[in-house]
Amino acid sequence: MIEENTLPALAEIECAATLEALEGLRVRTLGKSGSITTLVKTLGAMSDEERRTKGPLIHAIRTTVADAITARKAALEQAALAAQLSRDTLDLTLPAPEQPRGSIHPVSQVMDELAEIFADMGFAVATGPEIEDDWHNFTALNIPESHPARAMHDTFYFPDKDDEGRAMLLRTHTSPVQIRSMLQHGAPLRIIAPGRVYRSDSDATHTPMFHQVEGLVIDKGIHLGHLKWTLETFLKAFFEREDIVLRLRPSYFPFTEPSVEVDVGFALAGGKRVLGGSGDAPGHGWMELLGSGMVNRKVIEAGGLDPDEWQGFAFGVGVDRLAMLKYGMDDLRAFFDGDVRWLAHYGFSPFDVPTLSAGVGTAA
Ligand code: DAH
Repeated sequence: MIEENTLPALAEIECAATLEALEGLRVRTLGKSGSITTLVKTLGAMSDEERRTKGPLIHAIRTTVADAITARKAALEQAALAAQLSRDTLDLTLPAPEQPRGSIHPVSQVMDELAEIFADMGFAVATGPEIEDDWHNFTALNIPESHPARAMHDTFYFPDKDDEGRAMLLRTHTSPVQIRSMLQHGAPLRIIAPGRVYRSDSDATHTPMFHQVEGLVIDKGIHLGHLKWTLETFLKAFFEREDIVLRLRPSYFPFTEPSVEVDVGFALAGGKRVLGGSGDAPGHGWMELLGSGMVNRKVIEAGGLDPDEWQGFAFGVGVDRLAMLKYGMDDLRAFFDGDVRWLAHYGFSPFDVPTLSAGVGTAA
């Protein structure tokens, strides 16, 4: 009885050529009215004596057949997979299709570099709104109502005033962040404030929107020496040259007293200006780079601080101009055209850690 039910079934299971054939065998043996199921059912009609001897055998038969089906199923699936793998070949040595990649805009790159350099000197990055009121943008910075500097800046005004009756405008410089930072954080203070600024102006070196970075230090006993050292350290790190030489010239800004214009020495090499060395050396010259000075007492007061207790220096420089000087672009307007060919050439790879050593044209 046992051989009669099991052996042919086992032989067939082992020879089952397909999963469908195997499933047919399962139904015929272990299915509801399958041969093994029927055999198991005979146990019910047996005497206790008979069941005791045949029971374990019959269960062993069922287990054997069930195990054989499971094993054959796994073998058939394995074979199907192997067949598929040998059929579908995949050449992993083929070059992958090139994916279009974005790049980091030089302005973003330079802002990252600035943040990194100034962080080493203990400066935090501060921000302010691009839609400003005329108190923060002008009045608090000692640029009074009638001052020509307001017209000088070619300001974009909004038609309506804010709730406090202040004229609203697109900030013309990052200097209002000086006031906001003092009012918000008090003193001592060490910040840079990079960001977008707006003036009604457009030619090869002026665009209606451009970028500046403001610097502000407020502390006790701050003097011009601190300003000069900070700018020198910053410019040497930024241009990656130890031979950067600065020249401080007396100047005028309403928000600083005294005010200094900072020039940087360059050499003429093949008709190009290369920063480095004194501008007074033969074949050299001075290039105007940025505005700075000791923070005017009135500005410190507008920032809610006592100018007899706190002193400071400030500076403001064009970020786009820094980028042009370091990476060699000559038309500012191209910065904002969004031409992907320009970006592919001057952009930076997003996969390089933004370090000072990332070079031009590393983007794909
Ligand atoms: N705000 C000035 C501008 O937009 C630049 C500037 C000059 C900023 C001197 C300063 C400074 O902080 O001290 O042209």
